[in-house]
Amino acid sequence: MCGIIGFSGKTDAKSIILDGLKRLEYRGYDSAGIALQKDNTINMVKTTGKVDNLVKIAESNKNLVGNCGIGHTRWATHGVPSDVNAHPHMSSDGKFAIVHNGIIENHAEIKKSLIDKGIKFLSETDTEVIVQLLDYYYDGDIKKTLAKISSMLEGSYALGVLCADFPGSIFAAKVSSPLIIGVGAGENYFASDITAFISHTKNVIDLDDGEFAEITADRVSVFDHNLRDIKKEERKITWDVAAAEKSGYEHFMLKEIMEQPGALKATIEPRIKDGRVSFDELNIDMKKYDRILITACGSAYYAGCVGRDVIEKLCRLHVHTEVASELRYRDPMIDEKTLVMVISQSGETADTIAAIKEAKNKNADVVAIVNVVGSTIAKLADYTIYTWAGPEIAVATTKGYTTQVAVLYMFAVWAAGKLGRIDDKKLKELTNDIKILPERAQRTLDLNTRVKKLADKYYSKQSIFFIGRYLDYAVCLEGSLKLKEISYIHSEAYAAGELKHGTIALIEDGRLVVSVCCYEPLLDKIISNIQQVKARGAQVLALAIEGNKKIFAEADDVLLVPKANELFMAAVEIIPLQLFAYYVAKNNHCDIDKPKNLAKSVTVE
Ligand code: AGP
Repeated sequence: MCGIIGFSGKTDAKSIILDGLKRLEYRGYDSAGIALQKDNTINMVKTTGKVDNLVKIAESNKNLVGNCGIGHTRWATHGVPSDVNAHPHMSSDGKFAIVHNGIIENHAEIKKSLIDKGIKFLSETDTEVIVQLLDYYYDGDIKKTLAKISSMLEGSYALGVLCADFPGSIFAAKVSSPLIIGVGAGENYFASDITAFISHTKNVIDLDDGEFAEITADRVSVFDHNLRDIKKEERKITWDVAAAEKSGYEHFMLKEIMEQPGALKATIEPRIKDGRVSFDELNIDMKKYDRILITACGSAYYAGCVGRDVIEKLCRLHVHTEVASELRYRDPMIDEKTLVMVISQSGETADTIAAIKEAKNKNADVVAIVNVVGSTIAKLADYTIYTWAGPEIAVATTKGYTTQVAVLYMFAVWAAGKLGRIDDKKLKELTNDIKILPERAQRTLDLNTRVKKLADKYYSKQSIFFIGRYLDYAVCLEGSLKLKEISYIHSEAYAAGELKHGTIALIEDGRLVVSVCCYEPLLDKIISNIQQVKARGAQVLALAIEGNKKIFAEADDVLLVPKANELFMAAVEIIPLQLFAYYVAKNNHCDIDKPKNLAKSVTVE
């Protein structure tokens, strides 16, 4: 969603901030803006559309100069995408400029009270109340004013502020929205995520909720709402700038698909000790729980569906799944005997955060499976298992999903061992079956050229169905989401046995049905579903396991993937479906890394 960057240094801030905004584009946005400060003057430009539009306007603006400034990419929530609603927002006297991520829930009340005091508002945004409050309450002490107005705000915010009275300083504040400080040599940064400044520094400070920072070229000082200094630890980012760049690939999505063998290895290998799965990060007694609830959104939820089936099968424990955006409305039966597992690539998804809060209110232990280190979800959970997939830039998750699935496999085996459901021999066998997944993923990528050809054949379809049974059905959900989010082609995933209960009415001549047939104990069942759709004129693209000869007589086209343990096939079989979505979208000239209306991390409910 929105992205923010702030910079204070000794060089030209314009190019650094504009470059940072380009690196934040992947988060999804509809307008962008920049404000720079020189001495006691702040100038800004902002515009709808791509950062490239902003770059053109900013570069030709001679007044836009300075060694410190703030920038923003906006994903509209309150008010349409327009120049006036774009950030930064500036006070009418030019004293303050601010950028904001998040939502001010009580903005309507604040706005009314300020209007009653004679203040005029220019935009439709919730954000403008912040700059107007700053201007109204400012008494020359910026830190005191920031702390005061923060106590009046309800909701979430990551805030970047320029104040004309403090040349060279940028100010930041945070509650429930990500904000990270980058510490360089003679220059410092803040941003909503590290990718904005990773090419300049890898040393970061995590700002926590309720904290404020004053950042100059040479100093970062963090303080609380009582203006007491807080000593913060620096940490070093382990990944390299190349990980956040395309490295010759046309799209981040393709690069990230190709990175999956390495990402799986990074997730799995450090957690195998003496041939057994081991989780140093989990200090829980599995015998305490009578059920597991897995909750997440989108692809992370679909990874959870795979996890549900595998954990239940191996642990013989009730495992339920619930989309995080719905969980809190159901007054769910959660208590201290429920282990709640949340899954999130970004660690910032608002609905998932709300689900964690619901679970904690009901006294459950929360285990989070997260990719982004130091993210809100990682901090909120009682235990965090990092997927170590490296930065994922494309909006459509690929390596994020497969590494989540791998963690869930490992958790299933680990928990089954702790519960005494499997003996040591079986535990070692299953651990080995997980250990070979990176190699299986690597071999699956060899299908790239063949999948591309199939995408050339099928890309003009108006609607595509995905069918499968049991674990294959869970993979269909993800395969179908991948296709629709980047190619805008209507698609549905169906449990193959459910088709005949209604949806088969939509199967007609030429309809493409992608049939996932990798769970071999149910092969005959899915073949009979294939025959049912073929009898109604469908074209069938089947995904099956190497060595399956039967399938060729049933399907129009077949993709064969390498065999792995039947419980662990999802991490392999999803790969051709990701590639299929990618090439179909490419043939349809879609903006693959930044699909319309979507954002990388969904920080609003
Ligand atoms: C995946 O391709 C989607 N863009 C989306 O469904 C995503 O998985 C979902 O929004 C959850 O995000 P998270 O993993 O960062 O919490």
